[in-house]
Amino acid sequence: MGKITPYKLTAILTAIIVVAWGCKKLDLTIVNPNENAVFDPFAATKATFGTNIDFANLNNYANQTKPAYILNDNSGNNPITNPKATLGRILFYDKNLSINNTISCGSCHKQAFAFSDTAIVSKGVEGGVTVRHSMRLVNARFSNELKFFWNERAANLEVQTTIPIQDHVEMGFSGVNGRGNINSLVNKLGGINYYKEIFKTVYGDTIVTEARLQESLAQFVRSIQSFDSKFDAGRALVNNERDPFPNYTNQENAGKNLYLAPPVFDGVGNRISGGVGCNGCHRAPEFDIDPNSRNNGIVGVIGSNAIETNNTRAPSLRDLVKADGTSNARMMHTGQFTTIEGVLAHYNNIPNIAANNNLDNRLRVDGVGNKLNLTATEITQLVAFIKTLRGTNIYTDKKWSNPFLVQ
Ligand code: HEC
Ligand code: HEC
Repeated sequence: MGKITPYKLTAILTAIIVVAWGCKKLDLTIVNPNENAVFDPFAATKATFGTNIDFANLNNYANQTKPAYILNDNSGNNPITNPKATLGRILFYDKNLSINNTISCGSCHKQAFAFSDTAIVSKGVEGGVTVRHSMRLVNARFSNELKFFWNERAANLEVQTTIPIQDHVEMGFSGVNGRGNINSLVNKLGGINYYKEIFKTVYGDTIVTEARLQESLAQFVRSIQSFDSKFDAGRALVNNERDPFPNYTNQENAGKNLYLAPPVFDGVGNRISGGVGCNGCHRAPEFDIDPNSRNNGIVGVIGSNAIETNNTRAPSLRDLVKADGTSNARMMHTGQFTTIEGVLAHYNNIPNIAANNNLDNRLRVDGVGNKLNLTATEITQLVAFIKTLRGTNIYTDKKWSNPFLVQ
């Protein structure tokens, strides 16, 4: 080691100062154990959702595979993105969207029942109940019918999403009887820390608006898709859905023929040959409703003798039954059927209700309801076919499940 020159001394002293300063900085970090938490831009999100929501590693909502033969898509100018659909998932399960923090969309649209409810009418805030039966949310995206609800009173899915929030009995932000309106909800959500973090990430600022709620909720609902049925496996093996499916039993193929083919009636509404014509309104392969459908003869009002003739929409007929083939939720706006056999009994003998001036022409002749005259064999075949429209993933996929750790 040579002589210590002033130059070397300066270098050594500088090194000592740098190291000491480094230790000092380290000390500061140690005495402040909360430093990470304070600067984590997702602290509240992590506290609320744990690992269920991770904006660095989002679930795939935007690029889910769908079969080539599925052509309908009502996304319009709101195509699904992973960040907004994730926000939509959080909103869908957040009880803060109700006036007294007791009800979320998921309270009435339960994943275990294809996003419907087993009850005839669903419970809203403060003991209120819905007027009609909850609808399954299956492949809502893949319909040509743009309007939503049984009676199509929502012009599109975006508009639909904030109607239950503002419904007095459902989620309660009605602005009636001293309750706040949608602006109260917008302000309420704007004050919640995880929404500050998430809106900042998704939209670039923390501002909550009704339009943003609609956009993200609609994306989440549209993301709920179901194409893992026996029908899809069979359809992939043939050129045309009318061809026999190699993976079907004879009974299922016979049921498919009956479903797809139109009936032939005599002059007074008795079916004398042909199929049963379900496909005229619930159209394969989406099984969505014909936008021109009128009502199907189910005109009751729950808990009243009145009639309603404007219920002309149905969700896709996929996933009417659970993965194990047993009944899923109730069916029709009245929730009056629990089995497909019950539904077929209705179509077999369309009731003649004089005041029903909106019964679809396909179901009547000269104002008189048609009779399909189904045989026991035909009923078994139709039930077997309709059950092939059931999937499994919709009930279990975590990306559509409740992400809250506590709620
Ligand atoms: C209190 C129960 C309840 C709550 C809460 C609720 N819904 Fe519904 N939902 C229903 C009922 C009942 C219907 C059918 C109502 C009708 O047609 O009159 C329905 C219909 C729908 C439809 C129409 C489906 C179709 O095929 O036309 C969509 C979409 C929907 N709800 C989404 C939501 C979203 C999103 C939320 C939360 C913002 C929500 N719902 C909250 C009970 C509820
Ligand atoms: C003229 C059009 C039309 C025809 C034909 C038709 N339906 Fe429907 N279907 C509807 C309408 C409209 C609804 C909604 C009824 C309501 O609840 O008010 C509906 C509802 C249903 C539902 C209840 C769906 C749910 O989510 O609750 C089932 C199941 C159903 N139809 C099965 C069938 C079958 C099976 C056939 C053939 C035998 C058939 N439909 C023929 C128009 C039709």
